[in-house]
Amino acid sequence: MKTKRISEAMEKALNTQMTREAYQAQVYLAYASWAEVNGFTGISEFLYKHMEEERMHMSKFLKFINDRGGHARIAAIEAPPADPKDLGDCLRQALQHEINNSKAIDEIVHLAHEEKDWATFSFGQWFVKEQIEEETLINELLDKYNLAAGEETGNAGLYEFDRDTATASQEATLPRDEVL
Ligand code: FEO
Repeated sequence: MKTKRISEAMEKALNTQMTREAYQAQVYLAYASWAEVNGFTGISEFLYKHMEEERMHMSKFLKFINDRGGHARIAAIEAPPADPKDLGDCLRQALQHEINNSKAIDEIVHLAHEEKDWATFSFGQWFVKEQIEEETLINELLDKYNLAAGEETGNAGLYEFDRDTATASQEATLPRDEVL
């Protein structure tokens, strides 16, 4: 058993976030299945892959909690939201989920700062950066979707958007990545 190096409040917050990351995975899984059923095989492939990213985030929290002497407790995951109305709605909803998740991460970093828990503060920085990437990634997809769904391109534009998204990177390129 490891010496406990996080507060009770931090252990609770990290556990809540671990479950939230599992929920994020459920959201992407549900949207991926919806996209697949509706013929958007490229988008569904992207969303299935992104679901794996969220599970990796969940595992990072689990490992960190246990490594710091806490106990990562596996809890029930909230049901994912209803099916989106269309592809644009799917991407807009995904973006809102990411924004909500970013705010939850910010709260953890804030708590770590208040507690002078610099280990968790440092751990949280990885997620702060990751959330910038995730929001950028979905924003970029939304921009491409809006271009593709324009009246002048019609279904051909959407077809190409779906096809290209299958192989889209799961990582947005941020300026600071290029200088590091
Ligand atoms: Fe793990 Fe997309 O937040």
